[in-house]
Amino acid sequence: EQTRTPYDFIGEDKLTELIHAFYTRVGNHPELKPIFPDDLTETARKQKQFLTQYLGGPQLYTEEHGHPMMRARHLPHEITPKRAKAWLSCMDAAMDETGLEGEFRDALYYRLSLTAKHMVNTPDREG
Ligand code: HEM
Repeated sequence: EQTRTPYDFIGEDKLTELIHAFYTRVGNHPELKPIFPDDLTETARKQKQFLTQYLGGPQLYTEEHGHPMMRARHLPHEITPKRAKAWLSCMDAAMDETGLEGEFRDALYYRLSLTAKHMVNTPDREG
């Protein structure tokens, strides 16, 4: 018997919508815009691969890029606690925009908040 994964629950179309809404916000966020490329097409493509496998779907990210090692891949970028909050606020708003609700949304947001915390590699600047 096959287990229904969170990926099955959200589905590819809704995940694509979520990621699109998310990066539109990231690209306009004063804390995040400076550390991301101007063109977020490739970033969004990789994020879709990553979240697909994070949610229990096909291992698309690993097939193309190898082991995710997300913390290591974020080390070249200054991820401060403030930026982690900003990242999560963009995700929260993107979840609203795409109509994610209930237990699924809460569980995904909680899990992403732990992953975001884990990415922090630089303290906030003073002042
Ligand atoms: C890549 C920032 C959290 C998944 C990136 C990049 C930046 C960034 C600047 C490089 C973009 C590029 O050059 O294309 C941040 C910040 C975070 C955060 C500020 C706040 C905590 C997360 C979380 C996840 C994630 C929580 C997963 C749930 C990814 C993926 C990539 C990426 C999959 C593409 C990696 C690759 O190049 O193969 N992130 N990130 N990030 N991030 Fe994050």
